[in-house]
Amino acid sequence: MRLESRVAIVTGGGSGLGAGIATRFAEEGASLVLADINGDNVEAVASDIRGGQSKAIAVEMDVTDYAAAEDLVSRTVAEYGTVDILVNSAGTSKSMSFLDAKPEEFQHIMKVNLEGTMYCGQHAARVMAAKGYGRIVNIASISGERAGIGRTGYGVSKFAVIGLTKQMALELGPQGVNVNAVGPGPVDTPLTRVGHSDATREAYLDLIPLGRYGTVEEMADAAAYLAGEQAGYVNGHVLFVDGGFVSVGIQKE
Ligand SMILES: NC(=O)c1ccc[n+]([C@@H]2O[C@H](COP(=O)([O-])OP(=O)(O)OC[C@H]3O[C@@H](n4cnc5c(N)ncnc54)[C@H](O)[C@@H]3O)[C@@H](O)[C@H]2O)c1
Repeated sequence: MRLESRVAIVTGGGSGLGAGIATRFAEEGASLVLADINGDNVEAVASDIRGGQSKAIAVEMDVTDYAAAEDLVSRTVAEYGTVDILVNSAGTSKSMSFLDAKPEEFQHIMKVNLEGTMYCGQHAARVMAAKGYGRIVNIASISGERAGIGRTGYGVSKFAVIGLTKQMALELGPQGVNVNAVGPGPVDTPLTRVGHSDATREAYLDLIPLGRYGTVEEMADAAAYLAGEQAGYVNGHVLFVDGGFVSVGIQKE
């Protein structure tokens, strides 16, 4: 098991990729703290993990709240003695064009996706740096590498998450804390079931060389790799798991 006796926090653990990543980490031997703004969902996922005989607690919290992020890390340390791994998967999305974007909607996306990653990362990294070991995995997106229609808020927040990942890697690497990101292509989750129109789905299937959406399990595989020992020399990297989307240009003669 790749994460035997490790302690991991997964934000956004109540749904989609976060729930899948937390479940995979538990199968790999980690003890889990799942955090989410949706308390019922995150308790249900934690309860499923406990049913599989792994340790998991649920914390209802808002990643945009600096004090709540600090409390999340304190509760983890109180429960398990330390924190080794943080996955920042809490996220939100709303389609908006550059000319029509409303300040409060733009700010909300930036707060959840960027500030949430920053605050949880900061508090967890303080514990990790003090003991000289840690792994932080930020969930970015192909929208953080390529502009896309309607991605003024979401895409810009993910470009910023990639920038933050590199900054964290620079500052935390010397202290034994590796920081990387997974850049998922489209995956069917509650986020995309609402956010992806039929036209968007069709466009993705056309543009992705593998011709399909990714799966939660494929994203969990990438996160487990970056969170484990085998990624010991990987730092500041964005691992796109996207069927080739960000690598290609013209595909038709
Ligand atoms: N699904 C995709 O196609 C896709 C592609 C690329 C990147 N991502 C990224 O993966 C991550 C997870 O997305 P998902 O598809 O699993 O979506 P999801 O909606 O299924 O899960 C997101 C979770 O984050 C939680 N959350 C939202 N705001 C929060 C807050 N302020 N504090 C705490 N928790 C909060 C939600 O309650 C939800 O449980 C996001 O960062 C998203 O941007 C998803």
